[in-house]
Amino acid sequence: MSKNIDWQNLGFSYIQTDKRFVANYKNGAWDNGSLIEDANIVMNECAGVLQYAQTCFEGLKAYTTKDGHIVTFRPDLNADRLISSCKRLEMPVFPKDKFIDAVTQVVKANADYVPPYGSGATLYLRPYMFGINPVIGVKPADEYQFRLFATPVGPYFKGGAKPITIKVSDFDRAAPHGTGNIKAGANYAMSLHAIVTAHQEGFDENMYLDPATRTKVEETGGANFLFITKDNKVVTPKSNSILPSITRRSLMVVAKDYLGLEVEEREVFFEEVKDFAECGLCGTAAVISPVGKIVDHGKEICLPSGMDDMGPVTKKLYDTLTGIQMGEIDAPDGWIHRIK
Ligand code: PLP
Ligand code: COI
Repeated sequence: MSKNIDWQNLGFSYIQTDKRFVANYKNGAWDNGSLIEDANIVMNECAGVLQYAQTCFEGLKAYTTKDGHIVTFRPDLNADRLISSCKRLEMPVFPKDKFIDAVTQVVKANADYVPPYGSGATLYLRPYMFGINPVIGVKPADEYQFRLFATPVGPYFKGGAKPITIKVSDFDRAAPHGTGNIKAGANYAMSLHAIVTAHQEGFDENMYLDPATRTKVEETGGANFLFITKDNKVVTPKSNSILPSITRRSLMVVAKDYLGLEVEEREVFFEEVKDFAECGLCGTAAVISPVGKIVDHGKEICLPSGMDDMGPVTKKLYDTLTGIQMGEIDAPDGWIHRIK
């Protein structure tokens, strides 16, 4: 029985669900892990995660499809990306098959929290890992915990598909040879001051420029950029300090193979942004959130698609991607992991 939740009005915030998966790494090996009910974690005051932020995470969603199944979208790519985060943070990798199994178990155990088809909400899954034993000299922990919980969510930005306004940030999100290309908790900790500042100034998000030259577009605090040119090309920034978004990689396939559009993954100079027809933020949480206006130190760039609706190409991309996720449109092989 579906839970009695007002699915249509959910925002992007935490709602505790019944079961979460926990596995522990000790003496060089992962245990089998299991589902538990306790949402709280007890750890030593000197745990590696608390002292030196040794933690990384993932984000993916479970959907109810048109024909009533429950599915997740490309969880194998989240497993791969968690592995690359673990390697960069000197953490033991969490094996891919165990990751997919944890996703399956948590979704099944919380099936009543998967929002119904057509509600606009989804079940957000948050896998994460952290160093748990005491560490006082700066070094990696020896013991780790992997967890995965689920929480039902609505749109990431209030207003759903309404275009947002973003500012060019004075802060950097990543260093040139840093951790911008992995999902380290530390990346998000250092973005908090920038996002609070942006919100105080009335903006919805930040556009970060490349930290080395501050001439190229990178990404936002929680999503990659997509731009549409006036002749309908889909352009996305290429950089080794941004997160390799699974949504963005999928949308490039959708654009090319489903919509017959030309796609380009390349460096995008901020100077070019004024010439684009549409702009969107893409990610698991953001899906595709249209950007209506970009403000660079008081200088406004108003996208021709305006502040009322998603641009036409962005809308086609959005409808096709969500159609694939909700089982309305045939998916490429291997994109949909059916759970129920
Ligand atoms: N960029 C950042 C910084 C993110 O946190 C996210 C969210 O996961 C993304 C991009 C989008 O990635 P994905 O599409 O894999 O969710
Ligand atoms: C996601 O899209 O899954 C993320 O992790 C981004 C975060 C801003 C919620």
